[in-house]
Amino acid sequence: MRRKLVVGNWKMHGSLAQNAVLLGALKSGATQLSRVDVAVCAPFPYLDQLRQELSASTVKWGAQDVHQLEKGAFTGEVSAPMLADFGCTYVIVGHSERRNIYGESSSLVAEKFAAAQQAGLIPILCVGETLEQRESSATEAVVAEQLDAVIALAGAQALRKAVVAYEPVWAIGTGETASPEQAQAVHAFIRQRVAGHDAEVAQGLVILYGGSVKGANAPELFSMADIDGGLIGGAALIADEFLAICRAGQ
Ligand code: 13P
Repeated sequence: MRRKLVVGNWKMHGSLAQNAVLLGALKSGATQLSRVDVAVCAPFPYLDQLRQELSASTVKWGAQDVHQLEKGAFTGEVSAPMLADFGCTYVIVGHSERRNIYGESSSLVAEKFAAAQQAGLIPILCVGETLEQRESSATEAVVAEQLDAVIALAGAQALRKAVVAYEPVWAIGTGETASPEQAQAVHAFIRQRVAGHDAEVAQGLVILYGGSVKGANAPELFSMADIDGGLIGGAALIADEFLAICRAGQ
């Protein structure tokens, strides 16, 4: 049985004052959660705050993006060793907002994935199709291309120390959640595709669902065989809602 994992993706939200309140609630709420792993991924400037607030708790933290190289003349970028320096456990790579707004290709995302692992971080690889792609029955082809790019660069074994998050773009921030059956079908496809390389790695792979997860729909989503937790956007900014989602993973 895979342990459930719930990760909050704060996106570009927060302030020192707001974060302090939210983290205080998460820390105390998390003490009741023995069977689910919990993490939050914050904007870069708040990583030190996360380190200070969460070090003594069971809640892990991470970042939302990373540069693919260790260091160099890349003004404005942040490297994986820097994230490791701030105690990050996780880093999200290939979020659809990075792919779609900033034009990140699957091969660039694969490089970021490898750079994260090189620094000892656990990459959370996001994959998922747009509405147009779903409607033209391209979901599996899109997800396969995004996954295969990472396997081609890093090898299937690399997925031993990684998390995959299926986030259908049409369900992100829209209030429209994939049905548990729709999500399960894609999660099973992902696991099967990895099993084509290594059955054991596939069996242990934690695959999160993301896209309008709330306290109300989390129990049903998390009850599906191949849904191992959630990557949470909007609801991660509301302590009670996020904790309700975490409890659904218990
Ligand atoms: P919402 O939960 O706001 O739909 O966002 C999902 C997401 O993109 C998490 O990475």
